[in-house]
Amino acid sequence: MTPDPYRVWLSEILLQQTTTAGAAPYFAEFLRRWPQVQDLAAARPEEVMSAFAGLGYYARARNLHACAKAVAATGGFPDDEAGLLVLPGVGPYTAAAVAAIAFGRKATPIDGNIARIVSRIAGFRESIPANRRAIADFAARLTPARRAGDFAQALMDIGATICRPRAPTCPACPLNTDCRAAASGEPEAFPGRAPKKLRPEKVGAAFFAARADGAFLARRRPPRGLLGGTMELPGGPWGPGKIAAIGPEAAPFAARWTRLPGHVEHVFTHFTLRLALYRAPAPRVAPEGFVFIAPDAVETAGFSGLMRKAAAFAAG
Ligand code: ADE
Repeated sequence: MTPDPYRVWLSEILLQQTTTAGAAPYFAEFLRRWPQVQDLAAARPEEVMSAFAGLGYYARARNLHACAKAVAATGGFPDDEAGLLVLPGVGPYTAAAVAAIAFGRKATPIDGNIARIVSRIAGFRESIPANRRAIADFAARLTPARRAGDFAQALMDIGATICRPRAPTCPACPLNTDCRAAASGEPEAFPGRAPKKLRPEKVGAAFFAARADGAFLARRRPPRGLLGGTMELPGGPWGPGKIAAIGPEAAPFAARWTRLPGHVEHVFTHFTLRLALYRAPAPRVAPEGFVFIAPDAVETAGFSGLMRKAAAFAAG
């Protein structure tokens, strides 16, 4: 049986955000709401954003929707790597994974796990970022002409269970006798570590205006940029600085704002954010551009992980 390309594509996109255990409920919910790619293409953007909320990297939710529309418009997924690569949000990894798994093409998706396994088999001591070309060439030579999809998924499973970054269990590995890293007696030394990147810190403020029943004011972020299209607590721009120096200047409307003790911390790919929280009783009528969100609607309203954390912090 060949797997449904829509399901393969959807699972690969969701699995770029989280572990298999983390992705599974999202996958089930997407398929329940949108069983076919045409259904997803016809969804409203906010619905897709809400279904993605909590996974992070919201540009991917926009791309996911754009890709579904492109595929629905042309009547189905392209059946080779080159055709897939043109789709929104489909990079070399996803194109190769879908081509191999859904269409039986000889293609080799290379994610971090597969890059590590290949480096170990080949005995590459270079770090992965410094050695992408050689890893891709070696992986292509390992890949069989038939059942390349099963081969890729077997490598993924080995990477998740046996060939872990630390303390790989080589005796359990079917590739043990063909592996230079295993033969060396110190498999963990392959591949080498890339120099650690420094993650800058940013600070900002967020404002939580709540009614007595717990409903609070939120708004939708502009569609582009970081967390684009997600719901948020209002706040000012984030930038370098000290959290102690953050004041209520960025308050979105006049209210009796008080600073809550402590702050919320959230790690993005390119920076760590510290967010000071201000709280006030909400005005009776929602100001222009804001809506009241009931506490039991936070999970489904399309808030990012950061903003759920901030709202939970402020709600106390
Ligand atoms: N991780 C990402 N894609 C996967 C797949 N197709 N099989 C197993 N693990 C995966």
